[in-house]
Amino acid sequence: MKIIGTGSALPTKVVSNDMLAGFLDTSDEWITTRTGIATRRLLSDDNLGDLAIEAARNAVASSGVPIEEIDYIICSNVANNYVTPSLSTIIQGGIGDCACPCMDLNGACAGFIYAIDIAEALLKTDRARHVLIVCAEEPSKFCNWHQRETSVLFGDGAGAVMVTGGDNLIARRVTARSQKDVLYYKRPLESTPYDRQRDTSEPLVMNGKDVFRMAVQGSLGDINTLLKEGGLVPNDIDFYLLHQANLRIIKSIRESLNQPEDKFPCNLQRYGNTSSASIPILIDELAREGRLKPGALLMLSAFGAGFVTGGALLRW
Ligand code: UT7
Repeated sequence: MKIIGTGSALPTKVVSNDMLAGFLDTSDEWITTRTGIATRRLLSDDNLGDLAIEAARNAVASSGVPIEEIDYIICSNVANNYVTPSLSTIIQGGIGDCACPCMDLNGACAGFIYAIDIAEALLKTDRARHVLIVCAEEPSKFCNWHQRETSVLFGDGAGAVMVTGGDNLIARRVTARSQKDVLYYKRPLESTPYDRQRDTSEPLVMNGKDVFRMAVQGSLGDINTLLKEGGLVPNDIDFYLLHQANLRIIKSIRESLNQPEDKFPCNLQRYGNTSSASIPILIDELAREGRLKPGALLMLSAFGAGFVTGGALLRW
């Protein structure tokens, strides 16, 4: 497969660390030194469906693919207001006259790589010629806003790519190891006359230190495996586009690979952790800035609740 169009959309509300320190026992100093995050965009008067549609429209427009030639829409999303219908069908309705199959997947923060894996399979088996991947996330809606440990980390946003057949995906790898206690969100369900359990819903719970360790180990495992599969060494890669969770995680990975900082473009300083949307938003920004030259080698790597990881080695 190859990527032929990119798009993104972010909420208009910019929330600084100082704004959070107004109601949480935290500080700009703690958040910037421990995470690198300075501001994040949070949904306020806008909504996720509209953001997802805007990101999708931008990717479609930049690809030049007519709407009616989109063969599949895959949306990566952890949770949103609609449990059903799928967010991908909502996006389909928003982008225009397109009647293709739609599917949502929950690969947590690694959802973009999972979507690439599935899109590649659809393209390879001639089930599709153009697949629109949209990652749309609103983690702010499932954080506990009384808890400083998690709420300062996240931001909302959407990123999208259009993919078609090609030889640009050199290798990819997705993994999962069941570890539900390290990072989870339990949403509320309706009660029934027969359900004798109490409501067990719970806002996002995270063991930050465990996630940090698993993130670094998991990403390095994927990156080194993909380098080997591609017959490459770390120096061959032009850009490492990593899940935008924490600058310290990215630094650990970068130092293990012994690579310079400018190969690891980041935007988490401005957007926080936007879950699976973080890599496609980053790709869209770099593409629009003209920083991705044809032929450039990109290493994508993400990790998230599950515990899942995903990596992709591709040529731009
Ligand atoms: O997409 C995947 C999502 N998750 C992640 O990627 C998270 C991975 N983990 C991390 O990024 C880091 O573990 C955190 C940023 C979450 C935390 O950094 P840390 O260096 O592991 O800090 P810590 O949890 O060890 O906490 C250190 C101190 C604690 O206080 P004491 O016990 O030393 O007195 C915390 O209570 O910092 C305190 N703390 C805070 N202080 C101010 C925790 N959160 C905050 C906060 N503001 N927001």
